[in-house]
Parts: sequence; C-alpha cells; structure tokens
Amino acid sequence: MRLIDGKVISASVKERVKNEVALLKREGITTGLAVIIVGEDPASKVYVANKKKACEALGIISEEYALPESTTQEELLALIDELNNKESINGILCQLPLPKHLDEQAVINAILPEKDVDAFHPQNVGKIMLGDYDFVPCTPAGIMEMLEYENIDITGKTCVVIGRSNIVGKPMGMLLLHKNGTVTICHSRTKDLKEVCKNADILVAAVGKPRFVTADMVKDGAVVIDVGINRVDGKLVGDVDFEGVKDKCEAITPVPGGVGPMTIAMLMQNTLTAAKKQNKR
Ligand code: GUN
Repeated sequence: MRLIDGKVISASVKERVKNEVALLKREGITTGLAVIIVGEDPASKVYVANKKKACEALGIISEEYALPESTTQEELLALIDELNNKESINGILCQLPLPKHLDEQAVINAILPEKDVDAFHPQNVGKIMLGDYDFVPCTPAGIMEMLEYENIDITGKTCVVIGRSNIVGKPMGMLLLHKNGTVTICHSRTKDLKEVCKNADILVAAVGKPRFVTADMVKDGAVVIDVGINRVDGKLVGDVDFEGVKDKCEAITPVPGGVGPMTIAMLMQNTLTAAKKQNKR
C-alpha cells in the first residue's frame, strides 16, 4: 500500500502558485480573494481561517467578510455586487452552507463567473460539462492533482464515485470521464452498492458518513480516495475504514492529511487563474 500524502502534494501546488503570484506582483498585478462567511458554524469558521492563512503564506491578499446570522438576502447580494465591482478582488468565495433563510443558489448565481473560484456558478458548471473550463471545484480538482502527481492513469479504468453532491460527486465524475475513465456515480438509492464499489479501480468516497467504505467493498489493488471529514469522539475520520481497507489498496489517501489540504491549495490555484485571466495573462 502506498499512502497518497496530501500535505506533500498540496505544498508543491502552493509553491507553484506562490511563485506565479510573485511574478505577477513584479508586473504590478496583485492577486486578491474575498471570503464571505455568514453566521457562526464552527466548522465553517475553521475552513475560512485556513483559507485566509493559505492566502497570506502565498502572497495573495485576503479579505474576510464575517456577517451575522441575521444578514438578509439583500444585504448579502449587495456585498457580492460590491465585490464583483472591486478591482483588487479577483476571486469571491461564499462559504457554504448558508443559514437556512438565505437562498444559496441565488447567492452563487450573483457571483461574477470570472470571479467564481469555487466553480459553482451555472456558467462554470456548464463549462465543466463541456470539458472547456478555467475553474474546477476545489475538491475534485485536488483529487485530480493527486492522481496525476502519483502517476495514476485513469484511461479505461473503472471509476466509482460515492456521493452525488454538486460540490464533489457530480464534478468529480465529469473530470474522471474527461480523462477517459468509465464512471459510475453512486448515491443513497443505489442498489448493490457493495458490488458496484467492488468493481472500482479508482474509488472516491464522498458520502459524509464515518468509515462507510469497508474492506468488503474494495477491490484488491484499488486506488481509494477519501473525501470525508467526520468528527467522531473528537477525532477526525474519513468516509473510509482506513485500517480495514489499507492493506487491500494499491494507494489510499489518509484523513487528515489527504484530500483536505489539496482543497485549499486548489482554491489558491483558482484565485491565481482568476487574477491572470482578469489581467489578460
Ligand atoms: N463548504 C464546504 N466545502 C466548500 C467549498 O468548497 N466551497 C464553499 N464555498 N463552501 C464549502
């Protein structure tokens, strides 16, 4: 078994981004990311703090907008409008989930597609479907980066993604398809999930349930990618039963230290891409 080390791979992505940000700066071009968080969700606060830290380490200007739970849809849309028009801001990210009284899709739709570093706007989602895109959602992008770094060829492989979210499962399936994988996306209504998973050469678990993928669901020699971040008794565990599965795999990502650090690195990469595009570089 080979451990796919997200800390090492994300460090190499961040180093690349840092160098390019510095090169742009020499031409007088700054790179800026605005992160909006509404309310007090503790996990979201940690994610946003980590994004800010990563920006600072790479020379990307970060602006954080922490709005109260009571923020109205109009107030949030007004902020997005202001950031859409703010030249020093190249990327806008609104941390999800939003409080229930806010319309998430309307907020996503309001972000200029050119500044949509999450790639959640329908225009960017559509471009991913067509295979012609600038931004890729950060988690699937990070997973593709890991597979490439590890020289794992996707062409002709049986790829199974568990989870059909707009953030991970759906775009993940599409990216694997673009790389000539034969893709199945599974979900809570899938019949014989175990049998489907057992065929996978590349298995991506994005379920949100701790240790959901057990050894009996994994083919010998599979590559297993664990997107889960679940807190169990104060400890972070993935969607894969790592201890049970690890000896069957050719390669596996750990939790923590796997996909998680990649997600932030790819956000930095998308922010750089936005700055370059907006400055015609
Ligand atoms: N919440 C969980 N993951 C993400 C993400 O990738 N982007 C945003 N905006 N919110 C999230």
